[in-house]
Amino acid sequence: MEQNTINRKSWAIKNEVIFDDLVRLVNLTFPEIEIMVSLREQAQAIAPVLSEAFYQRLLAHPLTAEFVLGQIEARKSTLEQWFLDLFCGNYDHDYIRRRLRIGEVHVRIGLPIRYPLAMVDIILEKGLEVAATHTEPEQAQQAFRKLLALDMAVFNQAYEDVQLNHLAELIGNERLARRLLQE
Ligand code: HEM
Repeated sequence: MEQNTINRKSWAIKNEVIFDDLVRLVNLTFPEIEIMVSLREQAQAIAPVLSEAFYQRLLAHPLTAEFVLGQIEARKSTLEQWFLDLFCGNYDHDYIRRRLRIGEVHVRIGLPIRYPLAMVDIILEKGLEVAATHTEPEQAQQAFRKLLALDMAVFNQAYEDVQLNHLAELIGNERLARRLLQE
């Protein structure tokens, strides 16, 4: 089949249907949700260590430092809150909408998506440390990885939505906009 006649079902879905699609894909189970909730205290304890390592790395790199200079304390506290929310136990539409808004904030400041994605390294390391304290460490680590993956997919979705919407608005056709982004 010719590339430009292919149609994918994933192209036709929007908003909450995309949320459901992603939640179904990562396949988070009820025991995994319970594990996440049980780890809240440990997550709280490690959150300041995470934010310290996170901003040290961003500040050590001039191209990322220029986005955060002068607001480190505020940024640390929102990152800690964001990390704790991973352990909230309720991953419904409101949760995903909250996470999508966070992605949108980064789109608005013109932050290249490669930077948040590259910082997953530190978040994963600290999240796995928290999970390792659980009596079922492997299951706990899997739960954490799933939630982080969900989050990064949603973060990235914010970027894709903006690019696609602007392009579709400009050329008056979303299908054509998708094709242009494939080239
Ligand atoms: C996975 C990685 C990241 C996460 C989870 C994250 C999380 C957050 C959160 C929760 C907020 C607060 C959003 C709000 O106001 O509701 C925020 C704001 C912000 N983040 Fe990030 N962030 C990430 C990566 C980065 C990177 C790599 C940079 C810069 C190099 C950055 C720079 C900023 C700035 C400047 C703001 C404030 C934006 C504004 O209100 O004007 N973030 N971030």
